[in-house]
Amino acid sequence: MKTILLDSCISTSDEVKKFLPMREDVVVCAKRQTGGRGTKGRSFLSEEGGVYCSFLKFYRSLPAAEAFRIMAHAATAVCKTVKFFGADPEIKWPNDVYALGRKLSGILIENAFSGETIDHSIVGIGINVCNDVSALGGIAVSLSEAAGRLLSTEEVRGILVQNFEKESTFEEYLSFVHFLGRTVRVTEGGSTYEALALHILEDGRLEVAVEGRTRALSAAEISLRL
Ligand code: BTN
Repeated sequence: MKTILLDSCISTSDEVKKFLPMREDVVVCAKRQTGGRGTKGRSFLSEEGGVYCSFLKFYRSLPAAEAFRIMAHAATAVCKTVKFFGADPEIKWPNDVYALGRKLSGILIENAFSGETIDHSIVGIGINVCNDVSALGGIAVSLSEAAGRLLSTEEVRGILVQNFEKESTFEEYLSFVHFLGRTVRVTEGGSTYEALALHILEDGRLEVAVEGRTRALSAAEISLRL
């Protein structure tokens, strides 16, 4: 895959859109972002020392109903990268990657649909590598801290791109999800309740048992506390 490395930009997920007319897969990475974007309209702190990459990928005929495969693949590629450097990754459903109980990586996906299929997607991945995450108040961790040695962003970026280019399976994704079989707190609308996390379905919904009934929950509609 063609790889472009910038010193700085507002957001790699915007930069990569310049390649849309060429209709070929490309990844744009930056050493820092001045306006990094996160999920739910949040910003994503993107100082030097992290890896910030946006993959533009075109699909031939990926059904819209299979969109979760893109998310699962991205989270799996990050987990394989984290493992490569000797740390122990865990996916917080649907696609945040944690290590040592703190957030290590975030993923932002923008899909473009054409009828019932996905034409292309922009998969933005941010990984804390050796940046100072202490400003985030103990909720974040860097890969260097999780691996117990100082890592270079160049090396981590290279392994991430390699892993993203390889195929992955849904079983691999599931192997990095550790909370199944445990009780979780679900907030849905205005109410919060406890449920037993059973399984993640291939469409990305989380199957839970609540008061003897099985329900499939969508990440867009609920928030989860482990
Ligand atoms: C999140 O955890 O909220 C998702 C964060 C996604 C950050 C990545 S960094 C590369 C790409 N460019 C952006 O502006 N955002 C994504």
